[in-house]
Amino acid sequence: MQRLGIDIGGTGIKAAVVDVTTGALLTERERILTPAGFELDDIVDTVAHLVDRFGHDDAVGVGFPGVVAHGVVMSPPTAHEYPGWVGCDLGAAIHDATGLATTVLNDADAAGIAEYRFGAGDSQQGMVMVFTLGTGVGSAMIVDGALVPNTELGKLYLADRSDVAELQIADRVRTDEDLKWREWGERLNTYFQHIDRLFTPDLVIVGGGVSKKHERFLHHIDIRAEVVPAELRNQAGVVGAAIATVEVS
Ligand code: BGC
Repeated sequence: MQRLGIDIGGTGIKAAVVDVTTGALLTERERILTPAGFELDDIVDTVAHLVDRFGHDDAVGVGFPGVVAHGVVMSPPTAHEYPGWVGCDLGAAIHDATGLATTVLNDADAAGIAEYRFGAGDSQQGMVMVFTLGTGVGSAMIVDGALVPNTELGKLYLADRSDVAELQIADRVRTDEDLKWREWGERLNTYFQHIDRLFTPDLVIVGGGVSKKHERFLHHIDIRAEVVPAELRNQAGVVGAAIATVEVS
């Protein structure tokens, strides 16, 4: 079964046709720069353009960097306070523009589904948590194979800090503040110790582009759960969005 997966990010919108039974990409992955301004109409146009470019005429899955319930965006997208997103039925807008059945979900949930099924998660039972460290911090929680959507654990407040965790541990913060790997690793450790205490996961998968440099920081995370780097890295969002067309309503 072939589906088009699209991953809407702050800087790029990526897409590929995916075999949802194996997680394999059946085409090259296309990447288009995210329209400046991140406005709804421009984003929908870009998605429609990608659908055309692939000549795709089956269902399309779309990951979005904010809370999404039943196709409706429920929080402003990562690091942006653009007006007009909250309450917008992105699923319906893409369906109207393309004529295709559309599933929209949170980007980290999409990445989480893909990592769980075809990456480091190995479809393991129990409590698997996937985190994406990028411009923001996304989270996915998969319990005995079922996704608990929109967990938004980047928005946790840690004791003695006035900002959400995301504003201390995102990869963007590491580069903006020019943190040494050890400094960033220690922040991650504080965060993941709290996650461990709250959720007692069996497996924690750490993703996002920076996970390809996992040797530099993962060893700083000292928790009870097993912690492993993501395997699909920046393909996870596209693969998971495609899978969502058959698994998420
Ligand atoms: C958003 C999440 C998103 C994550 C990664 C956070 O700022 O609140 O919804 O999954 O960034 O893009």
